[in-house]
Amino acid sequence: MSGFSRAVGRDVRFIAVTGFFRDNNTLVCDGVPLSEVAREHGTPLYVYSADAIRTAYRELDEAFASHPHRIHYAMKANSSLAVVRLLREAGSAVDANSIGEVELAMRAGFPSSDIVFSGVGKSHDEIERAVQLGLKAINAESAGELERIDRAAQARGVRARVAVRVNPDIDAGTHPHISTGLHINKFGVPLEQAGALYRRMATQPGLEPVGIHVHLGSQIISTEPLQRGASAVVRLARELRDGGVLLDHIDIGGGLGISYDGSRAPTAAEYAAAVLPIVAASGLSIALEPGRYIVGAAAALVARVVDLKDAAGGHHFAVLDAGMTELMRPMLYGAFHRIVAVVPRAARDVCYDIVGPVCESTDAFGERRLNQLEVGDLLAILDTGAYGSAMSSNYNRRPLPAEVMVDGGKARVIRRRQTIEDQLSLET
Ligand SMILES: Cc1ncc(COP(=O)(O)O)c(C=O)c1O
Repeated sequence: MSGFSRAVGRDVRFIAVTGFFRDNNTLVCDGVPLSEVAREHGTPLYVYSADAIRTAYRELDEAFASHPHRIHYAMKANSSLAVVRLLREAGSAVDANSIGEVELAMRAGFPSSDIVFSGVGKSHDEIERAVQLGLKAINAESAGELERIDRAAQARGVRARVAVRVNPDIDAGTHPHISTGLHINKFGVPLEQAGALYRRMATQPGLEPVGIHVHLGSQIISTEPLQRGASAVVRLARELRDGGVLLDHIDIGGGLGISYDGSRAPTAAEYAAAVLPIVAASGLSIALEPGRYIVGAAAALVARVVDLKDAAGGHHFAVLDAGMTELMRPMLYGAFHRIVAVVPRAARDVCYDIVGPVCESTDAFGERRLNQLEVGDLLAILDTGAYGSAMSSNYNRRPLPAEVMVDGGKARVIRRRQTIEDQLSLET
């Protein structure tokens, strides 16, 4: 079991095996008190549990153990170098969504044969570099992109390994902003056009079809759409095989959701039980691109209360030193994160509007009932390992936050806090 959210579901008072839990009224990460880490490294601060990341990776890997498979951790969820390195050491491969992520993966020690490159709108330079590197697969998004990959590969006298990302028009039942597999979404090629694209590859000497790719969206908490997505691509793979197009793998994308509020989310075993028999029947190996499932529960964003104020209408604002610049999910998709005091006071409950310091009204995490706060108190925003740090920005000239990883009972800085000099080093 990893990360208390997955391990115990809903309440930080319970002890979990790895991740964030309470010890003597203090929230700790794998035994290390967050109050100490914040004292030493300042706030806002991302704190990661290395063990929670390893455990989630292992759970998924073991769930698929009965069939040849490869987990390609989706770096878009969190591409901090130490996180990506840790996953390489755990045995993962990676999915990159830009050439920047490809370069990062190489620096983290991944061979090009462990990298798949997804993403809508690959630029000319990105395609050139991907072809030059000879990645495991470029997940192509359109007929035009296939042509551009073909030209780049022919110019180098090589064949680029490609998979077509199909859009099966399946509703993943997730937030519209993170749904990708509907025909109204910009991603992929309509399923019914994909067969023709594969057949055309016989006339494109720069292309070697190696797989089929599908990704329906993120934070999917029912296995049913994932099953339908897998069935759709397996049907296509069969059709292609019957027509003489032989592939190596089916890439079923990522998307497996986690529980942010304590409600039930599918386990790795349930996910595998739903999709593995379908894909295994194709005889092809499976590639998976999980991001959130692996890192989501493995971090807390630790922030300090910098102001408390009462507004008209009995509203109480708690202003933190972290906001949309450090964690954009609540503002971008109305996402919910549990927010808890690092060291709760023995005081009455107050309903706070918890907001950030950024000069935007949307810079708010939502209302939470907490024991009465004082300026200087520390709060932890939980389950922020995925799409937290990776989406942070310099808006309002705020520095990117520091990041710390707890491993073997020790907290180590994996990214120092950005300075204004760091920001200005790019400017004239
Ligand atoms: C192509 C692709 N693969 C994998 C992922 C990872 O998704 P998740 O973090 O929900 O597992 C994404 C994110 O949406 C994606 O766009």
